[in-house]
Amino acid sequence: MMNKITVVGAGNVGATAAQRLAEKELARRVILVDVIEGVPQGKGLDQWESAPIEGFDTRVLGANDYAAAAGSELVVVTAGIARKPGMSRDDLVRTNADIVKQVSLEIKRHCPDAIVLVVSNPLDVMCWVTKQVTGFPRERVIGMAGVLDTARYRAFLAEALDVSVEDIQAMVLGGHGDTMVPLVSYTTVSGIPVSQLLDKARLDKIVERTRNGGAEIVAFLKTGSAYYAPSAAVTQMVEAIARDKKRILPCAAWVQGEYGVSGIYLGVPCKLGRRGLEQILEVKLSAEEHAALKQSADAVKETMAAVSL
Ligand code: APR
Repeated sequence: MMNKITVVGAGNVGATAAQRLAEKELARRVILVDVIEGVPQGKGLDQWESAPIEGFDTRVLGANDYAAAAGSELVVVTAGIARKPGMSRDDLVRTNADIVKQVSLEIKRHCPDAIVLVVSNPLDVMCWVTKQVTGFPRERVIGMAGVLDTARYRAFLAEALDVSVEDIQAMVLGGHGDTMVPLVSYTTVSGIPVSQLLDKARLDKIVERTRNGGAEIVAFLKTGSAYYAPSAAVTQMVEAIARDKKRILPCAAWVQGEYGVSGIYLGVPCKLGRRGLEQILEVKLSAEEHAALKQSADAVKETMAAVSL
């Protein structure tokens, strides 16, 4: 168990993540920080009042001031705004980059030893902003995307095969967007290659649905984006770190030559433990998967170009 975990952004993803972290008792205290006065305090208190019923002792507290976050071992960054009508993708990147810059300066000041888990979108670029502004090593700035994309892929496969989600092993790599790369060659059902159980046409459809998984939810919700699965993905990554589980999960990591790519954040298989990103695993990819990963990396670089630090 950690002593203190801070979640920045008490919106849908941040508040749901705080509740999940508390219910799993991953830290003694979970601090919710947001710029809106009263919202983190109210949500934190409401969550803490659920503790006697749910049976957890993690104290959830809300604040507007980062002093409450001081000394956190782990910080989850969910601050940002959603794209508004008429706003270009580049405008969104710049607005969220400014928010994440401010947040990163506060993290550097109040939580200099923290591991930072970035969730704000566009994810790969926000990870880079955080790493640049905090100056933290790549071991301590990681992004959540692949676990969510993989969960969607696994859910769709379990549905198509009518089997337990627990028996689907898979990994989605690349950038967090429509260029993501579900690794079909590494997808198994209790060790059985999925290609033996589903024909190519059905698999292709599932891969396509996975790529559009975020947009599918937005189309339903209209005024917001997904948060139940994203907050569950955050919690799985935090648990791997807080409990030093050495789990192998797809995370956005700063690549330095791995998979032939450098100088960007990209979704790759990572080992997560108490030191944060403990290892990037380089696995063999098919020529097609390799080309898709390269294309995904190019898309991340293009979005990065819209931001000047
Ligand atoms: N510091 C702290 N919090 C901030 C700041 C800031 N500078 N700027 C905005 N926020 C807060 C907002 O006040 C809001 O409460 O971030 C929160 C964002 O919450 P929502 O709008 O509900 O968005 P959410 O659905 O939680 O998504 C947050 O995660 O998955 C990504 O794409 C998503 O980038 C988005 C982020």
